[in-house]
Amino acid sequence: MDDLVSLCKRRGFIFQSGEIYGGMQGMYDYGPLGVELKNNLKQAWWNAMVYENDNIEGLDAAILTNPTILKYSGHEDTFTDPMVDCKSCKQRFRLDQVPEHCKKEDLTEPRQFNLMFKTNVGPIEDGSSFGYLRPETAQSIFTNFKNVVDSSSKSLPFGIAQIGKAFRNEITPRNFIFRVREFEQMELEFFVEPGTDEDWHKKWVQKRLDWWEDQGIPIKSIELYDVPKDELAHYSKGTIDVMYKFPHGLEELEGIANRTDFDLGSHTKNQDELNISANVVENKSSNTRLAIQNIETKEWVVPYVIEPSAGVDRGVLAIMNEAYNVETLGEGKERTVLKLMPHLSPVKAAVIPLKKNNEELVKIASSLKSRLQKLNLGRIILENTGNIGKGYRRHDEIGTPLCITIDFDSIEDNTATLRDRDTMNQERMEIDKIPEYLIKVVNGL
Ligand code: GAP
Repeated sequence: MDDLVSLCKRRGFIFQSGEIYGGMQGMYDYGPLGVELKNNLKQAWWNAMVYENDNIEGLDAAILTNPTILKYSGHEDTFTDPMVDCKSCKQRFRLDQVPEHCKKEDLTEPRQFNLMFKTNVGPIEDGSSFGYLRPETAQSIFTNFKNVVDSSSKSLPFGIAQIGKAFRNEITPRNFIFRVREFEQMELEFFVEPGTDEDWHKKWVQKRLDWWEDQGIPIKSIELYDVPKDELAHYSKGTIDVMYKFPHGLEELEGIANRTDFDLGSHTKNQDELNISANVVENKSSNTRLAIQNIETKEWVVPYVIEPSAGVDRGVLAIMNEAYNVETLGEGKERTVLKLMPHLSPVKAAVIPLKKNNEELVKIASSLKSRLQKLNLGRIILENTGNIGKGYRRHDEIGTPLCITIDFDSIEDNTATLRDRDTMNQERMEIDKIPEYLIKVVNGL
């Protein structure tokens, strides 16, 4: 973990938020390379969910949330952690995370602590008008269920996908970006006919494992945890946690839950006219029926929901951990290389003129950079430092799959040297063939 944290700061992936004022616990900022990696990961998820499935639609809803939503979702009452104070070190801990140095007799009785951030909405600060920063992206998917069904004519099974910020006032944020107070989720709510839910649950677990493998996380680094009944969240009939071997231990990367008809059943009007199986609180506030009509029987059905819910930040940490390699090169030398899947790499290619500021070389290099940039594969960098060895080392460390060197032969024969990050092999290629080659490299073809 220390090596990763140090690389992240040194190379501009992730910084502590507000560091110049001493930072703030549980908050991190993504730097120039981190934002690229994170965007690439989110795009890969969006491609796999929304673009590859015609029965999945996207959504980008508000973060500030009407408290009524979080009342009926159960978050106001149940989104809590038991917390204790240590009278000796004067710190507050989650009951299951009390450090060894705190003596049992110094701890207060556990108290429930709600993890949601509450904020004032509008100009009056007397607490009469407030909202929550959403603790998960899921709820706005449920409250928009009818809007999406009506506007996109969907029938079961279908899904709504959303990526966005979520906020939790974690008592003890820790392990770098693993447990933070502001993070991003990639959530799919997949609505199915009751009775088909268990099959769909199994299918989504497999699909999600395949996807993580495509992002560079092999199955050997993952364990599935079938959450026991007494540990399930209040909405879940069954949850499979995808556990990853993080540097600090085996922990949850993604949860895949069978939420039954709890959520739509909790937020719908006319609950007693619908055959809701989950144990829901009576709702007298909703003005919308959250159900779907069976075309043949004309009966209204409250769909069951399968929810794969992944953390973007935990994804970034797991992917960087898998990609991080220190290789010995002989003669006592070594290199640090980030073997990211090329579609996730923050920089797709570096174009390096052999001699700094040489007019002819820089002209060829910048023309190639512009051509490659227009392919829309991601960031291409012109590295006009004149130090090829240093350029290779830097790009190995940030995971750039391809370095392209423009030398004096390039002026004569319009070729360049391509250097592969993983094998360090070098080959000569016609400059006009490089765009097509890079497309193949980035797309893993
Ligand atoms: N809608 C269901 C839900 O939010 P969750 O298990 O509480 O379920 C889903 O969260 C995912 O969000 C987790 O698997 C994790 O990847 C991520 N996550 C949750 N809390 C987090 C935190 N404090 N910091 C970073 N990621 C977090």
